Amino acid sequence: METVYLNGDYLPKTSAKISIFDRGLLFSDAVYEVISVINGHLIDMERHIARLERSLGELSINAFADWSSISENLVAENGLREGLVYLQVSRGVMDERDYRWPAPDTTPTIFAFTQNRVLIENPMADRGMRIITRPDLRWQRCDIKTTQLLYASLMKMEAVAAGIDDVWMTQDDMVTEGTSQNAHIINRDGVLISHQLDRRILPGVTRIEMLAQAKAMGLTIEERAFSIEEAKNAAEAFVSSSTLLVMPVVEIDGRHIGDGQPGKHTRKIRYNYIGAVQANHSKRD
Ligand code: PDD
Repeated sequence: METVYLNGDYLPKTSAKISIFDRGLLFSDAVYEVISVINGHLIDMERHIARLERSLGELSINAFADWSSISENLVAENGLREGLVYLQVSRGVMDERDYRWPAPDTTPTIFAFTQNRVLIENPMADRGMRIITRPDLRWQRCDIKTTQLLYASLMKMEAVAAGIDDVWMTQDDMVTEGTSQNAHIINRDGVLISHQLDRRILPGVTRIEMLAQAKAMGLTIEERAFSIEEAKNAAEAFVSSSTLLVMPVVEIDGRHIGDGQPGKHTRKIRYNYIGAVQANHSKRD
């Protein structure tokens, strides 16, 4: 049985239990990270830790742990070659339900687990994703990676019910991001447009390396919001995330993007992204 981590212990997954008074459970008072694992290596761990610590800081949750060791131990323990590490930190357990935070020295609840997942040979990379757009009705601090994911989950289910792969969320006709990915387009002049980092989107870790690869390919980058109309008229569209890496989008609201096939720049960015994260590790081995 898989091993998970909970508050300092490595346990079989069915033995890990948390209190019903945990604030993560009652108030979504918790933050998390999803880190991809390729060839048994954690990808971009330092950037995930930096974002986790920022999320914790924004919510004044006092949690310190050796995030890298916990993740590495789980990868080793579970013999994970390709997939994900999920890491969550909540403010901890209250005596009784109360909106007010407990004392700052409350022990946070920290847990982590691994998931097997095909990342590189994902068949979606060849066919591309079909997307619909929906209003972004999440709270206004999407830059903090909290576990308040019900709206994203509702949107994902709407897509599934419509036989579509995912949803891009919009505010005033401008695309913010996908339910669990950052959204990007490449226009007909070869300019890659990606929403600027602000409170409307999560600062994606994959997005950083993706933009570096696109820049190295000679693409011009514009960090600004783009409209639904601009996206539908783009030459290419794609998403980035730790679970999908770089994934082409071939349809938005029933309209083909470009020729309805994964774009050539997008394919190359995905290829180069995967090459770069693998090379980073072989240098360290
Ligand atoms: N989601 N935007 C949102 C809303 C996300 O939830 C995610 C990641 C991203 C991409 O971030 P990154 O490149 O750091 O994975 C953007 C993870 C994978 C999840 O919730 O499962």
